[in-house]
Amino acid sequence: MEIIRVSNLHKSFDDIEVLTDINLTIESGSVTTIIGPSGSGKSTLLRCLNQLENVTSGSILYNDEDITSNQTNLNELRSKIGMVFQSFNLFSNLTVLDNCIIGQEKVLHRSKHESIDNALNFLKQVGMYDFKDRKVTTLSGGQKQRVAIARTLSMNPDIILFDEPTSSLDPEMVNDVLEVMKNIISKDYTFVVVTHEMEFARDVSDRVIFMERGRIVNDGTPSEIWNINSNERLKRFLNI
Ligand SMILES: Nc1ncnc2c1ncn2[C@@H]1O[C@H](COP(=O)(O)OP(=O)(O)OP(=O)(O)O)[C@@H](O)[C@H]1O
Ligand SMILES: [Mg+2]
Repeated sequence: MEIIRVSNLHKSFDDIEVLTDINLTIESGSVTTIIGPSGSGKSTLLRCLNQLENVTSGSILYNDEDITSNQTNLNELRSKIGMVFQSFNLFSNLTVLDNCIIGQEKVLHRSKHESIDNALNFLKQVGMYDFKDRKVTTLSGGQKQRVAIARTLSMNPDIILFDEPTSSLDPEMVNDVLEVMKNIISKDYTFVVVTHEMEFARDVSDRVIFMERGRIVNDGTPSEIWNINSNERLKRFLNI
């Protein structure tokens, strides 16, 4: 079943077009990774999908509803389409647990009790249960990112967007976070992941999208992408 349909999407900042005629459908329960050089528009595309950026033209259907409309309830949308950022975006003055319950209480209007139960369950899943009372400032980057993943899961999203979740981590923590990501991959969620971790992309993706200068230039299964003969740019990018 299709969960996202992007049609003729264009995005400009001032007069500079950074996304050009993006067309993309995403199947529910699938893992899509987006790769491409710096500045090719990967983050901007991801941010359009949960309306952290307005589109300049085109449409984005989520379960057949156009979320680019100004009728969209953005808080509700971002609970259904959660995002994990390179820079974690946690509240550093709050504890691990409070970071994971604040959205549930404020946006989903869950009781404190239910929010805590739910948060603890996901903190366990990412291996951060024992850190629940710690201030975020006392955590390593890898630990922060695992908390950010638990926070996103606590909102019970349909779709999880990851924007280079391991790019700001020390090398020894990258694998921890990739393992947590692998562990949560299931048909319960739809994943869209921007990453430079090519082995991971090849391993977990149903589909890989290569972007360049604001356009999708290749779109296929990992074996199609890694066996491609035609596109020299892509081969150079993948080092094959
Ligand atoms: N808020 C903004 N205002 C103006 N220009 C922007 C803004 N955000 C992004 N851009 C520009 O849009 C283009 C695409 O940026 P984007 O961050 O989407 O690229 P990216 O593929 O995610 O790159 P990276 O791999 O470095 O993260 C770049 O030229 C960038 O400078
Ligand atoms: Mg980016």
